[in-house]
Amino acid sequence: MPISSLSISHIRNIQQAELTPSSRINVIYGENGSGKTSLLEAIHFLGLTRSFRTSQFKYLVTQDTPQALVFAQLAQGAHAAKPLGVERQTSGDVRIRYDANTIDLAELAGLLPLQVINTDTFDLLEGSPANRRQFIDWGAFYFDPAFIQVWRGFKRVLQQRNSLLKCGKIDPAVRQVWDREFIQYAQRITELRFAYIEQLIPDFEAILAHLFSGAEIRLNFSPGWDQKVPLDELLGAQLERDIRQGYTSAGPQRADLRVKADGISAAERLSRGQKKLVVSALKLAQGTLYHRLSGRPCVYLIDDLPSELDQQHSRLFCEYLEQTTNQCFITCVDPASLRTVWRPETDVAYFKINAGELVQTH
Ligand SMILES: Nc1ncnc2c1ncn2[C@@H]1O[C@H](COP(=O)(O)OP(=O)(O)O)[C@@H](O)[C@H]1O
Ligand SMILES: [Mg+2]
Repeated sequence: MPISSLSISHIRNIQQAELTPSSRINVIYGENGSGKTSLLEAIHFLGLTRSFRTSQFKYLVTQDTPQALVFAQLAQGAHAAKPLGVERQTSGDVRIRYDANTIDLAELAGLLPLQVINTDTFDLLEGSPANRRQFIDWGAFYFDPAFIQVWRGFKRVLQQRNSLLKCGKIDPAVRQVWDREFIQYAQRITELRFAYIEQLIPDFEAILAHLFSGAEIRLNFSPGWDQKVPLDELLGAQLERDIRQGYTSAGPQRADLRVKADGISAAERLSRGQKKLVVSALKLAQGTLYHRLSGRPCVYLIDDLPSELDQQHSRLFCEYLEQTTNQCFITCVDPASLRTVWRPETDVAYFKINAGELVQTH
């Protein structure tokens, strides 16, 4: 559901800001250090109670301030907008209120699905497999309501199995019980991940065809163990090694989404700008699929859209954003290059930010 009004209190250098965003494209511009990324962090805080830039709230809240509050109205189509407020204290308390009710994080995530595209998004190609698992699991969470329970169950069994391995001496009967549960969860989580990826690939390929040329990009999901060998056999065969290491070496905790360009690791093969297009296509595909399945758009936070991209690719990127129904918050230093890319009928709002103060411009 798009944000139809936003009020931010005490997020980094933004003491207080109010804005009435467009339900489609919002361009936020300003000099270095003016607060552009902080504004995106405020929206991220509204959707997830935390920043994408720091895991520590004390760095997100304005210095020497005890609490941050972001308040919004979420549009409901033909119906009246509903209020959403997220308040967090440096002492630790978090309060999420939606339409006069207190809600929890999982409910919040369902209300405001967010996608961030920034320099950290390169980690989807260059970072560890954990980044790609997180990417898949974001999608699987929205794709199938059963996923969250399976994922939690799997995490619990994995932790228990690893604790057992660390003890060294394992009663084979106890191990068998744990392994049986481990395998059940492993198969279920893998089925859900496979099902999600299968749905995602056509969207990814269609978006990539719009944004990118020059190499053939292929996605290949690897579930975390050799599928030709039954998992119980593998767990048995690797037991000695697992005990030595103190953790389980085969299973969904090792899953990965390999991205190849012309048959070679995309992280090694592609230029920085090409990588930006590929990771953006992955994120945009998630939003497209989410929208198709739920009927609702995502909110995209795109930090410094033009960086790494030439004029032509910036334009293609914007053209694609314009075709979707997502609500986008796009930051840049100089808005000149983003002024001429939109069709006249697209609702685009411009905001200038200066030392944490926001004004709407034209
Ligand atoms: N906790 C904080 N309290 C107050 N100001 C902060 C805090 N954290 C960062 N800042 C300041 O906020 C400003 C805005 O940062 P940022 O949003 O990253 O700028 P931009 O993205 O526009 O380059 C910076 O000048 C930074 O020093
Ligand atoms: Mg920034």
